[in-house]
Amino acid sequence: MLKPQNIHNFTMHLHQLLIYLLPFIPLALTSTAPPLPDGASVLPRQRGLVCRDDTFSDILPASAHIVTIARVANGSSYGESPAQNPAYPVHPTNLPELCALTVNVTTSPTSSFRFGLFLPTKWEYRFLVVGNGGFAGGINWLDMGGGVRYGFAVMSTDTGHNSTSGDVRWALGQKEKQKDFGWRAMHQAIEMSKMLVYTYYSQAPRKSYYSGCSTGGRQGLKEVQVDATSFDGLLVGAPAWWSTNLATWTTKVYTLNSAKGGGGRYLSAKEMLFLGQEVMRQCDGIDGVVDGIISASERCRFDFGETLCGNRDVGADKEACLTSEQVATAKAIYADYVVNGKFLFPGLSLGSEDLWSVLLGQAGPDPRGQEYVKMFLLNNATWDWREYNDSIPIMAAAANPGDLTADQFDISDFRDRGGKIIMYHGDADALIPVKSSDYYYNETAAAMGGISSLELWFRYFHVPGLGHCTGTRVNAPWYFAGGNQAASLGTATYSVPGFEDAQHDALLALVDWVERGKQADSLIATTWNTPSNPRSGVLRQRPLCPYPKSQALRSGGEEKDLKEWTCV
Ligand SMILES: *[C@@H]1O[C@H](CO)[C@@H](O)[C@H](O)[C@H]1NC(C)=O
Ligand SMILES: *[C@@H]1O[C@H](CO)[C@@H](O)[C@H](O)[C@H]1NC(C)=O
Ligand SMILES: *[C@@H]1O[C@H](CO)[C@@H](O)[C@H](O)[C@H]1NC(C)=O
Ligand SMILES: *[C@@H]1O[C@H](CO)[C@@H](O)[C@H](O)[C@H]1NC(C)=O
Ligand SMILES: *[C@@H]1O[C@H](CO)[C@@H](O)[C@H](O)[C@H]1NC(C)=O
Ligand SMILES: *[C@@H]1O[C@H](CO)[C@@H](O)[C@H](O)[C@H]1NC(C)=O
Repeated sequence: MLKPQNIHNFTMHLHQLLIYLLPFIPLALTSTAPPLPDGASVLPRQRGLVCRDDTFSDILPASAHIVTIARVANGSSYGESPAQNPAYPVHPTNLPELCALTVNVTTSPTSSFRFGLFLPTKWEYRFLVVGNGGFAGGINWLDMGGGVRYGFAVMSTDTGHNSTSGDVRWALGQKEKQKDFGWRAMHQAIEMSKMLVYTYYSQAPRKSYYSGCSTGGRQGLKEVQVDATSFDGLLVGAPAWWSTNLATWTTKVYTLNSAKGGGGRYLSAKEMLFLGQEVMRQCDGIDGVVDGIISASERCRFDFGETLCGNRDVGADKEACLTSEQVATAKAIYADYVVNGKFLFPGLSLGSEDLWSVLLGQAGPDPRGQEYVKMFLLNNATWDWREYNDSIPIMAAAANPGDLTADQFDISDFRDRGGKIIMYHGDADALIPVKSSDYYYNETAAAMGGISSLELWFRYFHVPGLGHCTGTRVNAPWYFAGGNQAASLGTATYSVPGFEDAQHDALLALVDWVERGKQADSLIATTWNTPSNPRSGVLRQRPLCPYPKSQALRSGGEEKDLKEWTCV
């Protein structure tokens, strides 16, 4: 896996820089900064924050240079033109006053990456890194905007290429670019950003945080494994951590449902929705309330027999039931992917059917699966997914091109220096199975002393009814200011609108855990009458339960009453 020498050169360089700077660095980097006074989260405004090239130019190594630097006035927006940044074209608006930098860093003769940094005038002495999604290459200005509203300095990297989430052509034959995407851009951007933050404020960040979902989740877990000192706390959503196996499973699972027009195995989009309704009917009540939200799919004993056409009176609607061949397809989609007795990847969960058509109902496998096989693994842009075979995930795991996977489960170095992780995954996610996060948590527990000792520093929450990172199809409480969530409500969102506190906001819960030792035992998720519009009024709030527990309503309890929900 990751070889120490990979990061050696750059780290060496930073060490030299630090030695050079040491005489000029007051207390901040050599001792711990004093804690904030009780009740005060903002210290008096810093003086002399000079948002100009020459403030920073001599601090950067020769491989890096500032591309743009701009003072952003309170209330205005910032970003790049959509043509310049196709992956993240939307600008955050109504920003607090800040200094915005873009830095370009060369990593090899054939690769370079950029990162963006927001340095707010009113700084809370914290540093936050936000992640990317899919294979998107671009600075994620919108999520940076969400972060800077907390008063944190915020960084995002383009990971070394320029493309949208499903466009992987940049990786073909480009080992160095693959490595930048895997971990190198993130790692170097963090180290340089910490120096820039220090230079600007004359003080190192007191604590460093991470928030990201999907690929963003992977990037956070990966960085912990590359360098245990990068972060004090991470908020990790639906991580794509097992990249080799996730991408190949994504291709495989499509082939299970690809017999369109022949064989009778194929599930149409409408049949997937029918299956979802039937799952809802059978599994919804297990948590004590029939509310259209499945909270404990693993406890549902789903009877496929009840979906069979022979057992239903469906009249003329041939898509309101399944044939036995279609049931076999569905069972294969839910099943673990196992080859020669070797577990390769978990299947999708009951309750995710509403979103199946993204992976299973298109003209070919999702690009984030098949393009990975072509561009990263086989180095063959004309490879045809119809030639998929079960040796491919084995090849992928052995080669691990770009070193994307975050599977070094023993992160005791991180734990031992007080690091904390809050991880979450939507139960209705049909892009990355929730069970892949279960597996990550289980493996980490196995490597580090069991689940009960994990709970002291690493909490994992299932989110009933949440799809992939954002949104719900079933009016489930899905929002807690996780990675990408604020951006999905609008361009100026801060925290959980109306509930800007550590009970409802997972990032604030993480800060409380890291800085005040307040363990994140539960989180309250929120949704609104229109799930993506807080102005439509709160529809529901519910506590999320730390894995392996799940939500249940006390017998006779009122659904709206938070106190009536327990974790079982
Ligand atoms: C920015 O403007 C808002 C009002 O629009 C004001 O409440 C806030 O204090 C200002 N912040 C800074 C850092 O000037
Ligand atoms: C990203 O690619 C687009 C073309 O898709 C190009 O117009 C733009 O200049 C590129 N951005 C950067 C930062 O290189
Ligand atoms: C970043 O620097 C590299 C050279 O190291 C150059 O090829 C690339 O075009 C630069 N990118 C931007 C957006 O300035
Ligand atoms: C690339 O894939 C195509 C189609 O699957 C195949 O015919 C061809 O032989 C492959 N090329 C190489 C170099 O393996
Ligand atoms: C599986 O596919 C890969 C890529 O096309 C090929 O190299 C390999 O020989 C195939 N293996 C089997 C057992 O068919
Ligand atoms: C994780 O561990 C739990 C408890 O041992 C077990 O029930 C579950 O099946 C495991 N899940 C995965 C995906 O490994």
